[in-house]
Amino acid sequence: MRKPCLLFAGLLGVAATLPACGGGGPKSPPAETDDDFPMPLASGRSPTPPMGWNSWNKFACNITDMFVRQIAQAIVDSGMKDAGYQYVNIDDCWSLAARDASGNLQADPVHFPNGIAPVADFVHSLGLKLGLYGDRGTETCGHRAGSQGYEMQDAMTMASWGVDYLKYDNCPDPGPNPGPIIEPSYETMRMQLDAAEQVVGHNIVFSVCAWSFYEWANRLGQLQRTTTDIKNTWVPDPNSTDAGSIITSVKTNLPLAAYGGPNHWNDPDMLEVGNSDNGAGTVTDVEYQSHFALWAIAAAPLIAGNDLRNMSATTKAILTNKEIVAINQDAFGLQGVQVKQVGEQSVWAKPLNGNGERAVVLLNEAAEAAPVTFRFDEIGLRGGAATVRDLQAQMDEGTFTDSFTALVSSHGTVTVKVVGSEPPRPRGMAYLSDLTPIYAANGLGPVERDTTNGSSDPGDGKPITIRGTPFMKGLGLSAPSAIIYRLGQKCTSFSAQVGVDDSSTGGVGTVRFQVIVDGEVLFDSQNLDGTMPAMPVNVDLTGKRRLKLLVTNADDGSSLDRASWADAKVECDP
Ligand code: GLA
Repeated sequence: MRKPCLLFAGLLGVAATLPACGGGGPKSPPAETDDDFPMPLASGRSPTPPMGWNSWNKFACNITDMFVRQIAQAIVDSGMKDAGYQYVNIDDCWSLAARDASGNLQADPVHFPNGIAPVADFVHSLGLKLGLYGDRGTETCGHRAGSQGYEMQDAMTMASWGVDYLKYDNCPDPGPNPGPIIEPSYETMRMQLDAAEQVVGHNIVFSVCAWSFYEWANRLGQLQRTTTDIKNTWVPDPNSTDAGSIITSVKTNLPLAAYGGPNHWNDPDMLEVGNSDNGAGTVTDVEYQSHFALWAIAAAPLIAGNDLRNMSATTKAILTNKEIVAINQDAFGLQGVQVKQVGEQSVWAKPLNGNGERAVVLLNEAAEAAPVTFRFDEIGLRGGAATVRDLQAQMDEGTFTDSFTALVSSHGTVTVKVVGSEPPRPRGMAYLSDLTPIYAANGLGPVERDTTNGSSDPGDGKPITIRGTPFMKGLGLSAPSAIIYRLGQKCTSFSAQVGVDDSSTGGVGTVRFQVIVDGEVLFDSQNLDGTMPAMPVNVDLTGKRRLKLLVTNADDGSSLDRASWADAKVECDP
């Protein structure tokens, strides 16, 4: 076997490959080509994560008509539009605290003397879309008029101005356990936007900004904030009580991966890339490159937050790297997950919309450069040969056997596309816990094979037990979880016994199991709690390509419910 290649991720993908790397290696068995890639793009308001720009992170309330036009023009002139950025989003402070005599929202006449409609017209004339900010409460976080009680009027006002995207905020602070209190106001606004869309004839993306994940937000919004506000710092500032940072956002967002997907993207908040340009902050270009790569692989909305009129060449190169943008916008629509963590180094992966294609980000959070390795079966491929392309450097690295290693700089990432072979299809009677899934998202550490999900470490579970009945085989998880297997159109049935595992603290917790086959929900347990016996599942798989096992938290507010797909198996052709 050839030695793995070492690639040094220096500043921004200026990657030096060692001379001895690349080359051949033993060939894998022939790939089975019955997966029918590429899959078509989903329909809907946001089939891929929204891309654009927002005023808040850098400019806060310093926004004017002229400034927004300059930014829109800069999106075109800088190549951002060409790279896929589309929304020009005006955040808080565009409006007055008071409504007019008819109860209408009013733009601040000093900053937007002609109102919002002409700004929208200008943005549209450039082939871009306009986003605006609103709030579910009596006032916005910046003390401007909120939409509470005015939802119908405000939705119609904004739609008639030409607004294509509404970020809907959560002030005044709703206090502890706010989910059930704030849900109805977000629900009302989505309904009113639906109605306004019918009148004006264009879509309005709803960005739910409720500072934390809620299942209802996932249903209502095309994107939903999973975190408190990001800050322009790599890790939290030790001298501040504010825990916000790039790393905080991406890690808070990670366990929710099973919920992300077309038209309901998890949003770890807007980008800070470039906001330390010209000495304005402490984040390095290497860290910004990592920030962007992690948002890309997490299928997070790519909403830039810097001064696009005045970007460094490096910032522009990060934001407009089309090969990294492509992994974010991939039509398979999966949120990448951390597939491996060893000390301060981790490997993040997601399947792409092509046979045997995976995107992989190697992250090094340590203070020193370190080698990071992944095996191809750890990213849901079979072992053997695969090609690797460095997406930061936009350079092919060659063909590798079984694994790939790169030296990753401190706080850096190496972002690669791997093209190998999908795992073999199941044959005969096969337990899922003996197969390689192409994707496995889990609320806490890895999905476990034949044990419960203990804590975050691999292999830390106990025997699977549901209401006292033990099971030798199965998959142990913590909701939310999504696991995908390929079937190769050669299987006939899936069966399992499902329930909250006895290992869930005292059997508490409520979850919902769904079996989704080629995009169609073929089994739905509805809510199961820890008092209910294992529920049998039997699903016909004849002629199907992909089996997705989804377990959600059933809106009960408690995350990390331990649950098991006990005895999970498929019957397939020999
Ligand atoms: C909240 C949001 C931010 C921003 C500000 C504006 O903090 O989370 O993204 O919109 O309000 O006041």
